[in-house]
Amino acid sequence: MSSTSLLAAGLALISSVSALRSYPQFGEKQFSQSFLDGYNLLKFTSSLGPYSNRVSYGIDRNTPAGCEVDQVFLLMRHGERYPDYSGFGQNYEAVLAKMAASNVTSWKGDLTFLNDWTYYVEDPGMYSQESYSGAYAGLADAYARGTDYRLRYGHLWDKKSIVPIFAAGYSRVVETARYFGQGFLGYNYSTNAAVNIISESSTGGANSLTPTCAADSNYLPCLLGSFSKTMPELEVAAARFNAQNPGLNLTAIDVTHLMQMAAFELNVRSYTPWAEAFTLDEWVSYGYIWDLMYYNCVGPGSEYQIAVGQVYTNATRVLMQQGPKSGSMFWSFVHDTNITPVVAALGLDVPDKPLPNDTIHFPYQYRASDIVPMGGHLTIERMTCNATAKSVEGVYVRAVINEAVVPFNTCQGGPGFSCPLANYSAIVDAAPRFNERCNTSSTYPQYLDFFWNYNTTTQYNYLAGPIGYQQTYTDA
Ligand SMILES: *[C@@H]1O[C@H](CO)[C@@H](O)[C@H](O)[C@H]1NC(C)=O
Ligand SMILES: *[C@@H]1O[C@H](CO)[C@@H](O)[C@H](O)[C@H]1NC(C)=O
Ligand SMILES: *[C@@H]1O[C@H](CO)[C@@H](O)[C@H](O)[C@H]1NC(C)=O
Ligand SMILES: *[C@@H]1O[C@H](CO)[C@@H](O)[C@H](O)[C@H]1NC(C)=O
Ligand SMILES: *[C@@H]1O[C@H](CO)[C@@H](O)[C@H](O)[C@H]1NC(C)=O
Ligand SMILES: *[C@@H]1O[C@H](CO)[C@@H](O)[C@H](O)[C@H]1NC(C)=O
Ligand SMILES: *[C@@H]1O[C@H](CO)[C@@H](O)[C@H](O)[C@H]1NC(C)=O
Ligand SMILES: *[C@@H]1O[C@H](CO)[C@@H](O)[C@H](O)[C@H]1NC(C)=O
Ligand SMILES: *[C@@H]1O[C@H](CO)[C@@H](O)[C@H](O)[C@H]1NC(C)=O
Repeated sequence: MSSTSLLAAGLALISSVSALRSYPQFGEKQFSQSFLDGYNLLKFTSSLGPYSNRVSYGIDRNTPAGCEVDQVFLLMRHGERYPDYSGFGQNYEAVLAKMAASNVTSWKGDLTFLNDWTYYVEDPGMYSQESYSGAYAGLADAYARGTDYRLRYGHLWDKKSIVPIFAAGYSRVVETARYFGQGFLGYNYSTNAAVNIISESSTGGANSLTPTCAADSNYLPCLLGSFSKTMPELEVAAARFNAQNPGLNLTAIDVTHLMQMAAFELNVRSYTPWAEAFTLDEWVSYGYIWDLMYYNCVGPGSEYQIAVGQVYTNATRVLMQQGPKSGSMFWSFVHDTNITPVVAALGLDVPDKPLPNDTIHFPYQYRASDIVPMGGHLTIERMTCNATAKSVEGVYVRAVINEAVVPFNTCQGGPGFSCPLANYSAIVDAAPRFNERCNTSSTYPQYLDFFWNYNTTTQYNYLAGPIGYQQTYTDA
């Protein structure tokens, strides 16, 4: 057999094997009739647990036929991480200390695993940092997103230009940006990436990835109030643990802290025995506490925060109008509370009426786990499309949240349920304006400038020295 016919025979074999593999065996179902992902705990660990794709509407994630993405805008939260100490880890340490002081000598019932479980924050210096171990590690998530986006959007890099990467000035955010960049640029990261660190200070005004709304006096009270909210199901969990372990005296608030702690454990260890200590109904209730927080404090329930989101939607809209000559890739890295305002400013995930505080809103219309899990991201694509039977030739926009296409409520007439750029622009203009609504000081920058005036140096591409103890803000 000649080498060419050997090759042809090999290819034929491979294609017949793959043809067999793509069809079910006789009598098997082509499509599953179960939707077990509804029970996936990652939809209830909310913003504190590992990344999960958004539950999709079924719309094809791939670029529609006849279209080409010519600009992409990524707004991504840092990846999986350790808890912060303040407001989080300190509470976990306190509830664990309370349990240790309860005189229970042998844990029973749903807490039996505690007889040989240890807290996963072994080095307190790691509080707040991106995680680096386990199947859900934050650094791995960021790198994998980069490699995935290289495959998807690699055509936008001309293989010579400098690629700017914008990171808000916070340790875990900057590390996420760096690992994403290494995933995206591979061997070319050290020479062709230019990490720009954008300060989180409120003095940045509108020239920021993390704008502060001076007029939003409810911002901190709203967040802090959410941290002391519980639900009736969590009283049930506390009572069950206490009954199983005489001497234990947990409250529903203690239970919320243990559930938070469990969510974070996955970011570090791949597995948490706490997951099964709570019932599914308890996890559903716990998840809703976070939905309420994002909705009311940093989402569509706050006019101020919609105005905060307008900074990013406006600037990226201007870039889309200018087109690829102003740059084709804008990779930006921030926190959860900087993404939910942008989603709200685009009119996405806005429930029909405010979420009730005392009962869970079924069916879900605002799920924090579908928007800002660790590594959560909003991807906006500008597409140039040929005419189709339903739409004219032109420029269209699509929003993708955590890898699911999310159409705009009143504008989905383009290919792949996209929206014509002019109509998209009207959606952007419907949001309240940041400077006016937030009463931004006139001494601060009034508009976002760094997407046009970024540094092309590589000096921030790598961490210069050790990460500081519980490091948060950073400018290097
Ligand atoms: C749009 O149509 C032109 C002309 O037929 C074709 O060359 C081009 O490949 C099409 N673009 C896409 C993205 O399919
Ligand atoms: C645990 O035992 C000690 C010593 O008997 C006692 O002083 C303390 O009150 C007990 N704690 C609880 C929570 O019962
Ligand atoms: C990118 O990296 C590859 C592999 O090292 C190298 O061959 C290529 O020249 C690099 N491109 C640029 C623009 O530096
Ligand atoms: C707006 O800011 C000015 C000073 O910067 C302050 O005097 C005024 O009270 C603020 N208004 C509101 C509505 O917050
Ligand atoms: C349990 O704690 C509550 C306060 O959270 C306290 O009022 C109550 O007396 C405690 N019960 C026991 C049995 O220690
Ligand atoms: C829920 O509680 C928050 C905080 O107290 C409040 O701002 C919001 O209006 C309440 N929502 C409803 C629907 O009552
Ligand atoms: C875009 O806006 C124009 C003018 O307001 C309107 O006629 C058209 O139906 C809109 N297209 C879509 C897809 O919403
Ligand atoms: C929109 O962004 C551009 C560029 O940053 C800026 O010049 C303009 O003032 C902004 N407009 C609004 C309404 O925010
Ligand atoms: C670019 O570098 C200069 C000098 O270090 C700095 O002042 C400026 O803020 C940087 N710009 C950005 C977008 O990071």
